[in-house]
Amino acid sequence: MAPAEMMQIPTDEMKIDPPYRIVNRLHIDAKAEHARLVAGLRAAPAHIEPKYFYDELGCALYAAICQLDEYYPTRTERAIFQEHREAIAAAIGRGGTFVDLGAGDCCKAMSWLPFIEPIRYLAVDIAGPSLETALGNMAPEFPDTEMLGLVTDFSQRLEIPAELLAAPVTMFYPGSSIGNFTPGAAVEFLRQVRGAAGGGALLIGVDAKKPKPRLDAAYADALGVTAAFNLNALRHINRVLKAGFTETNWRHAGFYNEALGRIEMHLEAVREETIQLDGMQRIFRAGERIHSENSYKYARREFEDLLRESGYQSIQAWSNAAQEFWVFLARE
Ligand code: AVJ
Repeated sequence: MAPAEMMQIPTDEMKIDPPYRIVNRLHIDAKAEHARLVAGLRAAPAHIEPKYFYDELGCALYAAICQLDEYYPTRTERAIFQEHREAIAAAIGRGGTFVDLGAGDCCKAMSWLPFIEPIRYLAVDIAGPSLETALGNMAPEFPDTEMLGLVTDFSQRLEIPAELLAAPVTMFYPGSSIGNFTPGAAVEFLRQVRGAAGGGALLIGVDAKKPKPRLDAAYADALGVTAAFNLNALRHINRVLKAGFTETNWRHAGFYNEALGRIEMHLEAVREETIQLDGMQRIFRAGERIHSENSYKYARREFEDLLRESGYQSIQAWSNAAQEFWVFLARE
């Protein structure tokens, strides 16, 4: 045995560095956020932003949704990624920064890192605690990749400090989360993504249009997990606003609006309920709804048009045999 190995001479690998770093940019617009939430609840029809689903319990409920038989998007996307891993990774190339938009538990990105070997992984999410847990668990597995977390809300505007981005940049936006934007807002968002990537690529997952019964079931599952996920937003809002929602006065409505090509989720009052909004009262009559989410579905051509409108010229697409879900790799 060589002396160096016997004596455990310290090497760079033995230095104890923090395995990951978190940058918090969440506080910035707290006032505007509060005002938007109150205005949305005062409006008729009332509406809230889907980000209020994702407190700690909400993240756990979403993870449970992804395991439901009815909720096919997550497992379909995973199958497409698995089947076309080598081709997609080759098209992305190695090195640079892999930016995970809405990273959550970082599981989806983790399957890409061994194939892309980025010098930096930047996990971006509104939920700080799940980022910390995920990065802490992942970091030892990827010693050659710098692990960074950015806690921010990019639903209004995508702002990534430039110093966090080492070129070439690949933006990763899986799970059909783009469906939460209206098509017009999606174009605006994708332009911001393209700008932030500075000539880099976008790897994005998009749910396809399909017959209504299948889509209805995916958003109104038999076990009621999606209902719990939807209702949990009221608990989250109670903590933020002291609004005084009683969950048992509300029920989940989730269905495909075929004319608009989108899933709609609503919270529907089963009986009258009065809540508090900054000292004012808001009465919801029985049957009145709070619109809590849209999830747009796209045919391949529709989404390619949207990408082109957003400034992407070169587009590759992958799907499963039944074409239930699309994965696009897009560049300027
Ligand atoms: C996280 C936005 C992709 O729209 O399918 C799942 C959220 N809502 N079930 C989706 C969701 C109800 C999900 N996204």
